[in-house]
Amino acid sequence: MHAFRDVDYDRYTITKEYDPDVETVRQRDMIRRAAELAKEREDRLGRRLNACVVTFGCQMNARDSEKINGVLTAAGIELTDDENADIVIYNTCTVRDNANQRVYGRLGNLGVMKKKHPDKMIVLCGCMVQEAAVIEKIRQTYPFVDMIFGTHNIYKFPELLVRLLEDEGMIIDVWKKTDSVVEDLPVVRKYPFKSGVNIMFGCDNFCSYCIVPYVRGRERSRMSGEILEEVRRLADTGVSEVMLLGQNVNSYGRGLEGEISFPGLLKEVEKVEGIRRIRFMTSHPKDLSDELIEVMAESRKICSHLHLPVQSGSSRVLEMMNRKYTRESYLELVYKLRKAMPDLSITTDIIVGFPGEEAADVDETVSLIHEAAYDNAFTFIYSKRAGTPAAYYESRMSAEEISEGFNRVLAAVQKEARKNVSRFSGRTMEALVEEVNEKDSGYVTGRLSGNVLVHFKGDASMVGTYQNIKLTENKGFYYIGERV
Ligand code: 5AD
Ligand code: SF4
Repeated sequence: MHAFRDVDYDRYTITKEYDPDVETVRQRDMIRRAAELAKEREDRLGRRLNACVVTFGCQMNARDSEKINGVLTAAGIELTDDENADIVIYNTCTVRDNANQRVYGRLGNLGVMKKKHPDKMIVLCGCMVQEAAVIEKIRQTYPFVDMIFGTHNIYKFPELLVRLLEDEGMIIDVWKKTDSVVEDLPVVRKYPFKSGVNIMFGCDNFCSYCIVPYVRGRERSRMSGEILEEVRRLADTGVSEVMLLGQNVNSYGRGLEGEISFPGLLKEVEKVEGIRRIRFMTSHPKDLSDELIEVMAESRKICSHLHLPVQSGSSRVLEMMNRKYTRESYLELVYKLRKAMPDLSITTDIIVGFPGEEAADVDETVSLIHEAAYDNAFTFIYSKRAGTPAAYYESRMSAEEISEGFNRVLAAVQKEARKNVSRFSGRTMEALVEEVNEKDSGYVTGRLSGNVLVHFKGDASMVGTYQNIKLTENKGFYYIGERV
């Protein structure tokens, strides 16, 4: 059994004198040190050391995992998808409780593996471990975990890796907050031709059901100069599609003096040579400006897709959710967007079973799905998150009523999606080829500007290229097509 060390996670504070340049140099040195330690272990083992990073949750986590993979690779450690690896890292999500439960289940399996291979190193990071109760549970129930670090200090991963390889015992390094934005570590991208780019971190909206503001902290934007430099660097290495990432991209730049707004940033990204497609995630309806609509409508590169989470079609529920818009103002925004961009694909997130919601509110969500004419939607059953205001509200629907409501919402989404995606049938559109089809290697899968997938005949040499595809068959959420 390990000794516990560094369990006092309150003692870490970030000072204003903190210098990102100094920190970057320090972390680079740490990568060199990690490489030496990895080499020592390899000499003992007589084989390469390997690591498996498993990502749960959203695009932000996916991007963080690319950074973790980048550091591991730079330290000479091999990456694998097999959880039998020497190092297993779970990059966790806590937005809904079932994500937490999945991690606990899989941790149990890792514990069994570790009994056979005591040198195995098990690491947890991401949003879930920002909760003190989770850390307590892991210490008590899963004491074989070697390291836990949070979302605020991921830029220190090289240093954390050194400590892991030095075999320090259970390392817990979770910060409550940070003012700093350090973003200059090696990265291993999942796709060579497309990449996420963080433009901001955290969220200040405090929707009453959501745990993100507590685990990701206050909203912080990166300087536009740094973002653009990263985009230019990506373009130089063959990336043609970027996805600008933030919990609420429409409030980009808030709090940074003299900084450009989100539409301004989009215009600058548009100028970067080599970038052919620009996407962004996620937009909060309350902050979506006319200027953004204008910039999107005029742009040649911004994709014709907007993810605009509505959460509910009932103004009463939206108020309880603290979303700061109404059903009517949301729909007005949708009509405005459609007028400016008739081909725009709009997708959304919907929660069913929010405490206080009734069957009549679900009816309103169903009717809004039809009025907004979504191309797709992610639907979720409300999950109670400790510490959020809604955790204290009382539910007015039984589990059966919630499940019935969820099914009605899902059926409406599927019907709308099939109808709206089919509006492009027969048209020829440009697709970025992402991969060889998993089921049939004579086919490849491409993504249209509107974020819909299309499968067509092709081979591995096409991956990363743009192809003009005639959309011949609508399969509901995707197309079958032909190259023209
Ligand atoms: N329960 C269910 N869904 C949630 N989401 C956020 N918090 C919760 C919760 N407590 C959903 C919202 C958000 C998406 C990322 O996750 O729909 O837009
Ligand atoms: Fe959560 Fe609302 Fe922030 Fe989105 S905008 S991360 S739902 S608090």
